[in-house]
Amino acid sequence: MIHETVVTTVTPEGKPHIAPMGVRQQGDTFLLMPFLPSATYDNVISTGCAVVNFTTDVRVFAGCVTGRRTWPTVAARHVRCVRLADTLAHAELRLASVEYDSQRPTLVMECVARCTNAPFTGLNRAQAAVIEGAVLISRLTMLPREKIDAELAYLSIAIGKTAGPRELQAWQWLMDAVHAFFARPAEADHVPTEEAL
Ligand SMILES: Cc1cc2nc3c(=O)[nH]c(=O)nc-3n(C[C@H](O)[C@H](O)[C@H](O)COP(=O)(O)O)c2cc1C
Repeated sequence: MIHETVVTTVTPEGKPHIAPMGVRQQGDTFLLMPFLPSATYDNVISTGCAVVNFTTDVRVFAGCVTGRRTWPTVAARHVRCVRLADTLAHAELRLASVEYDSQRPTLVMECVARCTNAPFTGLNRAQAAVIEGAVLISRLTMLPREKIDAELAYLSIAIGKTAGPRELQAWQWLMDAVHAFFARPAEADHVPTEEAL
């Protein structure tokens, strides 16, 4: 099972970096699989730690894939890293080993602390739609336009029926990014690939 989370890391100088990432959990072991090149990967290799944030604030997911990468963070307690200031829960991780791969290595990380910061208030369809939309937007150059349009049209139903202010703002950022992408003259780099389908 993969959970869509927000991974926070720091550079060796302590500068925070925030990236949405799917993580696998096996007990106290977390597997992170960044595509290279990756700032997250570089930071984990340099510092040996990361924090996985479990948040329902989907603005962070939509924001990071549309260039809004700065979100408030606070220091983690058990590793020299940061967590999102506004996250329902988080897990503080130390690097245990690396399964090297030239495209997508696996960072095998051990959980040293799990913290709950706020109650989970339930599932929301618009939040799931924003996550799906954010994944689509991160693959704009790889997918055929018809697929993007069809999927966004379907996802927008859940937005219209169930979104709150955060989800509406996140969805708007995604829509702005899609419109800007297809308004560009250089559609030459829009080459659908089998893998992305
Ligand atoms: C829901 C979601 C899940 C993602 N999962 C991954 C992932 O598992 N691995 C990855 O490399 N990028 C993933 N991405 C894309 C990254 O967030 C994005 O490419 C980011 O910039 C990672 O690169 P970085 O480590 O250089 O920041 C995901 C994006 C979204 C919206």
